[in-house]
Amino acid sequence: MAFRIQTFEEYQEEYRKSVTDPEAFWEDKAKHFTWRKKWDKVLEWNFTQPSVKWFLGGKLNITENCLDRHLDIHGERTAIIWEPNDTKKDKTRYISYAELHDQVCRFANVLIRNGAKKGDRICIYMPMVPESAVAILACARIGAIHSVVFAGFSAHSLIDRIQDSDCSIVITSDGAFRGAKEIPIKDIVDEAVEVCPSVKKIIVLERTGCNIRLTEGRDLLWKDEMKKVTNQCPATETDSEDMLFILYTSGSTGKPKGVVHTVGGYMVFMAYSFTNVFQYPLEPAHSTRPDIYWCTADIGWVTGHSYIIYGPLLCGATTVMFEGIPTWPDAGRFWEVVDKHQVNIFYTAPTAIRSMEAQGLGYVRPYSLDSLRVLGTVGEPINEEAWQWYYENIGKGKCPIVDTWWQTETGGIMISPLAGITPVKPGFATLPLPGIQPVLVNHDGKEITGNGVEGNLCIRFPWPSVIRTTYGDHERCRQNYFATYKELYFTGDGCRRDENGYYRITGRVDDVINVSGHRIGTAEVENAINQHPDIVESAVVGFPHPIKGQGIYAFVICTNSQHDISLLKEEILAVVNKMIGPIAKPDKIQVVGGLPKTRSGKILRRILKKVAEGETSNLGDTSTLLDPSVVDSIRTGAL
Ligand code: WT7
Repeated sequence: MAFRIQTFEEYQEEYRKSVTDPEAFWEDKAKHFTWRKKWDKVLEWNFTQPSVKWFLGGKLNITENCLDRHLDIHGERTAIIWEPNDTKKDKTRYISYAELHDQVCRFANVLIRNGAKKGDRICIYMPMVPESAVAILACARIGAIHSVVFAGFSAHSLIDRIQDSDCSIVITSDGAFRGAKEIPIKDIVDEAVEVCPSVKKIIVLERTGCNIRLTEGRDLLWKDEMKKVTNQCPATETDSEDMLFILYTSGSTGKPKGVVHTVGGYMVFMAYSFTNVFQYPLEPAHSTRPDIYWCTADIGWVTGHSYIIYGPLLCGATTVMFEGIPTWPDAGRFWEVVDKHQVNIFYTAPTAIRSMEAQGLGYVRPYSLDSLRVLGTVGEPINEEAWQWYYENIGKGKCPIVDTWWQTETGGIMISPLAGITPVKPGFATLPLPGIQPVLVNHDGKEITGNGVEGNLCIRFPWPSVIRTTYGDHERCRQNYFATYKELYFTGDGCRRDENGYYRITGRVDDVINVSGHRIGTAEVENAINQHPDIVESAVVGFPHPIKGQGIYAFVICTNSQHDISLLKEEILAVVNKMIGPIAKPDKIQVVGGLPKTRSGKILRRILKKVAEGETSNLGDTSTLLDPSVVDSIRTGAL
């Protein structure tokens, strides 16, 4: 069977095969790639430890598959179209596969020259410029493990991530442009590395030209280093199960955890999901214009890793990388870029769609958008109104919308329509990709069978890009994902399966808030707020937000009732900004006298959630509370 499914019947047939004989199914997909040595065994797994290994004994380098493999057939094809933040300052860049290969080899040599070896962890803290892709692929080329940190995170967040995995090199830029703002990235790195003794070198790309401090012997300029090396860099052979990257993500407790993905399985699943979900033709003939694909995510999130870089490049696609923001210089920027580059496939977040919708059609009308063929969404549930707006006004009623459900831990898209093949339904991620076996369970872990049901979403069988471990703490991986329900991977999401077997993800069922498609742990925000000297305790919950999907609502107890409340709130925002970054700043802060706790001291968030949602009369059972009267005072003081 071909790698890319072309009809719904074929999808059904492929799905059936993937369940009856998963090993034969994935072995067949893996054959499409360049392996230095073929695997000895397709799969070994148990979800108890957990331990999952795909393509055991296989040897390869993922960059040979992303780059070298394409050179003979279409080295001149554009791999990356880079659209700058400000077109008045910078020109669009078109980087061919041959050029990207050249840059990656050179930068891989820069890393080697600076002491990087296979297995080393390298932190990438960069804006959306092609050099970020070069840095990522250069790590992969030498078998080093990249840990990309979103450049919107604070120095504190960066410290946690660098220290957790003992990164030896940080790759960064002097500054970053975001709309009208200029952010001093290197200063943040400087602050962070003061307490990160593992960091021996910092390689700095000059992007904004702002002033930076360079520490002799430690800090190097990208451009100087690139002059010292050649473009010859044979790829380091890695094992299928060697780590490819670490990506930190928030959970319901403690500090962010480093989700680990490994080389072989991740590669196979990214190419397979990319070509199938977006129906991107694989290696189209030399003469035809390749489809232009644009994913608006940041490379600091898993979407950027999997569907700006690895998935598209593995398939020889042309991928757009956008440095700017959707609302600058005005809310028509996305559509201007779509027309400018004649984008065929456009993939974005529901939050972005809702904020465009809120700005009105005046920003859409000037653009034809005729080139669009497929639209996608990711990161959070999409409400029906936003879905319809996207479908009518952007897709002009002719583009299927792929609502793709997946997670940092799943590596790639798990439940989604295949564009133009799976009949769509607004708000539904529809059906699992071949190889993905979703299960709904009730609170006792009992499977809920049949259709027209709702429960907690689990996956019963491994897929090639399932999380392998959480870096440095395997027990945490087990606890978080494999311990809640026996023999199942638990996603943390609630889900409905409708009468036709279509899946609709309803949102997190754990203490994680999804703000604009970004995962924020309530505990993390609470820990940050509690750093404020006048805060005794805090409790954070999510509430429905018209644009962001969910907003952050913080209930705080402070030491001194004489406080200037508005000043206190400002200080809380500042402390969260400093500890985590702007994305975690609470939308609402309410000072309370007490929190609803059980006799054992557990905060009943369910009650706070109701208050945050604006529900004040029916708060459910409050009989287990130590002091039920706190609820009344919270309710009457609600914002
Ligand atoms: C969480 C994962 C997947 C890459 C971006 C976010 C939510 C994701 C959907 C969707 C409803 C979705 C889930 C999931 N989510 N996609 N299509 N419909 N919810 O990655 O930070 O790992 O977050 O995002 O709640 O668990 P992430």
